[in-house]
Amino acid sequence: MKILCLGAGGFIGSHLTQRLLKEGHCVTGVDTHDDKIREFSSDANFEFIDKSIGDPGLDSEDLVHRSDLVIDLIAYANPSLYLKLPIDVFRTNFTENLRIAEYCVHHKKRLIQFSTCEVYGKTPAAVLSGKLPDPDNPAYATFSEDKSDCILGPVNKHRWIYASAKQLLERVLHAYGLDGKLNYTIIRPFNFIGPRIDYLPVNGDGVPRVFSCFMAALLNGTPMKLVDGGAQRRSYTDIDDAMDCIYRIVENPRNVCDRQIFNIGSSNNEVSIRELAELMRAIYREHFRKPGVPLSEIVEVSGLQFYGEGYEDCDRRIPDCSKARELLGWTPKTAIEELLFRTMLYYVRQPQ
Ligand code: NAD
Ligand code: UGA
Repeated sequence: MKILCLGAGGFIGSHLTQRLLKEGHCVTGVDTHDDKIREFSSDANFEFIDKSIGDPGLDSEDLVHRSDLVIDLIAYANPSLYLKLPIDVFRTNFTENLRIAEYCVHHKKRLIQFSTCEVYGKTPAAVLSGKLPDPDNPAYATFSEDKSDCILGPVNKHRWIYASAKQLLERVLHAYGLDGKLNYTIIRPFNFIGPRIDYLPVNGDGVPRVFSCFMAALLNGTPMKLVDGGAQRRSYTDIDDAMDCIYRIVENPRNVCDRQIFNIGSSNNEVSIRELAELMRAIYREHFRKPGVPLSEIVEVSGLQFYGEGYEDCDRRIPDCSKARELLGWTPKTAIEELLFRTMLYYVRQPQ
């Protein structure tokens, strides 16, 4: 197939580009960064366009027109950016991606749109705090694609602009699908981890997602910061397991993915952020600690101190992946200890 991969230079995009090329597809990648995909630049089946999708010099409609399949991963995907650049987050994650979706409608192209598990927002237990007899019951935090409600916080907590933009885009795709005008598949990833995730901040420059913050702290012997105590929970998913599911969605056997939403995540790997910090610290101490560099301490900071005004958190999220299992035969395999060890090893081996 001729596949247009928007956001090919990102964490997931780089792994997907690698897989698509390995499977023999022709890939056109668009991104404003290419450092994670430079190694594929000599592949005759790969063309890279180093431009923003908002660049007036980029004829993205023509790129859509010339493709058999469009995969859109473009987003601002780090919470620190939702706080710092909320308008840019909305424009990129909704307006620009809507334009691509409408080209797909016009040219009748199948679209795989990356959304997020953040569309589910907070759990009912968080909203009804104190009113549930068993607030820790995982059933309150287990989200399924076609049944769960989406509970987002107030407008003055602008962290939610990311989830709102993604959710609105999903709703527009669904509406085009109802009219039979668009064949889409929406993917909601649950906290993927693997090599090439984000970047390691140097001298406190920028705030990536939590794995990279903790990894940088461990390598430098600086404190691992737990935002608001670290009781909040996530379900971490190995990028290779995720890629296996994503590629099944690309193949779309018997058209089972048409106009469907898929959670991709690993419910067995649910941990609190405090547990994540402790696990990474223990793995680092056992396998990677460098002589002379102190072992990081785990310290607490407030969301206000760490991210600034407008931060609110998702308290807990566990994926119900029964749809991916039933329609695609997919289940994740990798345990959290193994995925952390492998990803940490990748960063330990990078030149500092
Ligand atoms: P990422 O930040 O590594 O990748 C996004 C890519 O989009 C980046 O390479 C960035 O340069 C590119 N981009 C942003 N704006 C652009 C523009 N205007 N023009 C061209 N390129 C632009 O993030 P990721 O983790 O690879 O996420 C990929 C997608 O999956 C995103 O849509 C994200 O919201 C979604 N997602 C990811 C996760 C996860 O676990 N990694 C979880 C939930 C949702
Ligand atoms: C992020 C983004 O919103 C999306 O990219 C995506 O939808 C989602 O990840 C995902 O990967 O599925 P979040 O999980 O909140 O959402 O992102 P992180 O920055 O990785 O934060 C996870 C938790 O760790 C949050 O509770 C955050 O407050 C905390 N954190 C983060 C720390 O305690 N310390 C840090 O140094 C950084």
